[in-house]
Amino acid sequence: MSRVVVLGSVNLDLHLQVERHPRGGETLLAGDLERRFGGKGGNQAVACARAGATTALVGAVGDDEPGREYRRRLEAFGVDAGLVREVPGAPTGTAVICVDARGENTIVVAPGANHRVGAEHLAALDGPGGLEDGDVLLAQLELPLEVVAEGVRRAAARGARVVLNLAPFAVLPPDVLALADPVVVNEHEAALLAEQLGGDQPPSLLVTLGAAGSRWGDLEVPGERVEAVVDTTGAGDSFCGVLAARLAAGDDRRAAVEAATAAAALTVQHEGAQPPSPRP
Ligand code: RIB
Repeated sequence: MSRVVVLGSVNLDLHLQVERHPRGGETLLAGDLERRFGGKGGNQAVACARAGATTALVGAVGDDEPGREYRRRLEAFGVDAGLVREVPGAPTGTAVICVDARGENTIVVAPGANHRVGAEHLAALDGPGGLEDGDVLLAQLELPLEVVAEGVRRAAARGARVVLNLAPFAVLPPDVLALADPVVVNEHEAALLAEQLGGDQPPSLLVTLGAAGSRWGDLEVPGERVEAVVDTTGAGDSFCGVLAARLAAGDDRRAAVEAATAAAALTVQHEGAQPPSPRP
């Protein structure tokens, strides 16, 4: 059976609910501090496993309690966390997230152990028991970029499909972008990518348009109507995780994007990037 290997970050999310985002130099009061599980890699792996895919996460946590707790949680959600290494002397990645009354967020990440992921972690992709034809590698950009680029190249060389989420946006070599099917970006990242590449877009580019849906080449999928947006954190991650799961299961592009769109719509209706428990 096909599986999805997520190459990505693990963060402890520190959530602050604010009425509005602070301006430069301003101090605001927030609601109570909430500690949640996040990181684009962890979020996408959880969404992928919940969508029914056999899922493993390649990444790193610190040798601290948040890291150990996170690994236990991944397993509880059905994600194989055996390839999430504990890095001695490094803290688990941490994100400070402010969510305003409209559910819009700002996020600042201290990468911690995520930036200790090195090429040696990639043996899981092309060593014994590694990726095979029909498997999917799902990656984002919160790990060192050279490691992500190398992971994409190795996965593609094994015949795996690569789903590459350019978030947070960074410049990757065009030959790496060309190996992904698709590169997933939001509108903001799409504009930055166009600036980087000029007219030469990656051959397979999926642009998410928030409530307006998404566009993947000539495929356009409308957004889902949502009554009340509570928190947009992790909506893009749910989209990517479910997209990868459905593509690994053999769905066509439209069916996979529709399932991903529905998952993102559910995510904006709860607080935090991940659902509170393994099953609703
Ligand atoms: O995409 C949302 C995620 O971005 C958060 O969970 C935070 O940890 C950052 O990685």
